[in-house]
This record gives sequence, C-alpha cells and structure tokens, in this order.
Amino acid sequence: MSLPTVALVGAGVIGRHHGLVLSQLRDRLHLVAVADPEIERAERLAAERGGRAYPSLTEALRAENVDVVVVCTPTGRHGQVSIEALAAGKHVIVEKPAEVSVGRTDEMIVAQRQAGTLVTVISQHRFDPATERVLAAIERGELGRLTSGIAAIDWWRGQSYYDSGDWRGTWELDGGGALMNQGVHTVDLLVAALGRPVEVFAYTATLAHQRIEVEDVAAAVVRFVSGALGVLHATTSAYPGLSARLQVHGDRGSAVIDNDELAFLHTTPAGADPQEMLMGGTRSVAQASDATASSNPGQLSDAHRRQYLNFLGALAGTEKLRVDLETNRQSVGVITGAYESARTGRPVTLS
Ligand SMILES: NC(=O)c1ccc[n+]([C@@H]2O[C@H](COP(=O)([O-])OP(=O)(O)OC[C@H]3O[C@@H](n4cnc5c(N)ncnc54)[C@H](O)[C@@H]3O)[C@@H](O)[C@H]2O)c1
Repeated sequence: MSLPTVALVGAGVIGRHHGLVLSQLRDRLHLVAVADPEIERAERLAAERGGRAYPSLTEALRAENVDVVVVCTPTGRHGQVSIEALAAGKHVIVEKPAEVSVGRTDEMIVAQRQAGTLVTVISQHRFDPATERVLAAIERGELGRLTSGIAAIDWWRGQSYYDSGDWRGTWELDGGGALMNQGVHTVDLLVAALGRPVEVFAYTATLAHQRIEVEDVAAAVVRFVSGALGVLHATTSAYPGLSARLQVHGDRGSAVIDNDELAFLHTTPAGADPQEMLMGGTRSVAQASDATASSNPGQLSDAHRRQYLNFLGALAGTEKLRVDLETNRQSVGVITGAYESARTGRPVTLS
C-alpha cells in the first residue's frame, strides 16, 4: 500500500523540525515536496529530508500528488496556505497558533468543513506524558472541583531573535508577542485543564525590546465557564529565561508541570476522603516521582512525533483526532481577548 504523501510548506526553524519528524516517520509518511519562497531553504531541506523543492504550495500541488500539507509558515499566513490546501481536498497539519485571530481561525474551520478532511493544529505539549497524566487525573475527578490555575512562561528572547525575521514581533504575521507566540502552548494546557474560558482582563507592555509592535510581557486573569479562575503570565524579557509552568488546583488535588515535567501531583482517588485538616504547603513528590521518571523530556522532536501519530491514527480511523481547529480556537480567543482588554482597559467576554 502506498504511503500518504506530504508537502511541507515553510522551511524555516520549525519547518526543519517537521522535516526531522517526517524522516523519523518515513515508514508512515512520504515527503514529496518542500515549498518556500526562499527557494534555497526549500532546496536545502529537500536535499536533507527528501522530496522536491518548490517556491510555493501552488506549484507543489500542480506538480505532485499530495495527501497531507504541513503548514510551517509565519502564523499570519497559516490561514491562506491551509485554505489553499483544503480547497484542493488535502489534509492539513498546521503549526500553532492556528491563526492570528478568531475570525481567521473560523475561516479555516469553514474551509475544513467544506473539504471534509482532517486538520490538526500542533499543540505538542498536550502529548507530553506529564500533561496526559494530569488531564487523565482531572478526567477521573481526582483533583476534585477545579478552582484555579496558573500558566506562566518566564522566558528570555534577545533582540536578535526578533530581528531574525521581518514577521517576528508584528501584529499582522506574529499575531502578538510573548502571550501569542511563546505563551500559547501553556495557555492551551490551562484551557485543556480548566475548560472553556469566558472572560479575560489583561495588561501588556513592551519593556525590554525595540522594533517590535507586540508585547514582551503580559499579565492577565481569566474566568472559566466552570467558575474556576486562572492567571496568565507570559514574558520574553525574564533574563536569563526560566521555565514554562502550569499549575492546576482543585479541592481534592493539585498538579504542577514545569518545563514539560510533572513537578508535583497530589490526587484523591474516588472513594477516598481528602484530609480535611490539611493546611498550607504539602509535598507530594512520592506521587509525582514515578510520573517524572516516565516523563520523556524528548522535547520538541518526540512531542511533535506523538501528535503526528495521533493524526495518522485519525486518518486511519483508529483514533479520535485529539487537537482540531476548534480546540486551538479557544486558546487563540483567550489570547486575542487579552490583547483587546489591554487596549481598552476593560474585561473582555469571550465567544
Ligand atoms: N510548535 C512549536 O513549538 C513551534 C516552535 C517554533 C515556531 N512555531 C510556529 O511555526 C511557525 C513558523 O515559525 P518559524 O520560527 O519556523 O519561522 P521562520 O521564519 O524560521 O520560518 C518560516 C518560513 O516560512 C516561509 N514562508 C513565508 N511565507 C510562506 C508561504 N506563503 N509559503 C511557503 N513558505 C512561506 C519563510 O520564507 C520561512 O522560511 C509560526 O507559526 C510559529 O508560531 C511553533
């Protein structure tokens, strides 16, 4: 049986990473085209990972028989490229975030429904073992009623990072700064844990970088439909760069994931009573330690590969697609809502 064929669109930093993942999955997927207007980038990646180089998706689709289009362009081009692929009846794997606005994400959703094909938005940290373990505990009710959470991204990006591409730090193509580009993963995990966000209030600032339109620090509070409250803190100006951290708290347990590792997990299994008298700090390293041991830091490469495997399972009809456009739309919505709140000085209700 012939393998599904792939066109990889955008041969920059993350495009090269998808090239690596595709080579790891060469027995499941066949890379036939790499497209980038910077043709020498496409040629270099094609020479390394396979396929022919093209200056655009349009030319790749004209010349090659393609089943799956992988979109690794700047964020503000995700919609245009994905919709072209969907209009041609292709499946799509698109990098995060889906697009720079909820409206543009909705256009992709309409195109996907018309095509009837699969679209997954890369949210690789949902596939980390630590995340899977925490979400499963929440699903089983072992954290009890969820009360609050914190998504904190305390990173550093030098000025050279923003200067490395014209699109970086622009509203049109990056869609935002620390919260949208770097923070979206952790915001997405908070949404996965706490459910649908309904209101957000935020402040943003640009304090440590020049020549960018967007924020390098954002602080926000979020209310979720369940009543749970969340805090978002995202920055690219915390020198020398610390971690991405998720905290989730409930009335029967709490979890902390730090840099993709399970740092703390305290759960109360069904049928057991939480200790009513417990107050103040507790350490649940015993419960967390086995998960930490099994957590594969495998970083970028392994997490992307795990999401590809889910996509392949969904393509074969053996698994449910775990991240679709609607899933990512919620995270895009809370982030763009935070930007609107910072601009207007008012809380923003999320649709
Ligand atoms: N999942 C993750 O952890 C992760 C990490 C980094 C970046 N990303 C996402 O990946 C996307 C790209 O980021 P990057 O850092 O690789 O950027 P980059 O600038 O390194 O690469 C983007 C590439 O896309 C090409 N391009 C632009 N328009 C195109 C078009 N219409 N058709 C084909 N190619 C086009 C550019 O020439 C460039 O080579 C962004 O949306 C970013 O948010 C995700």
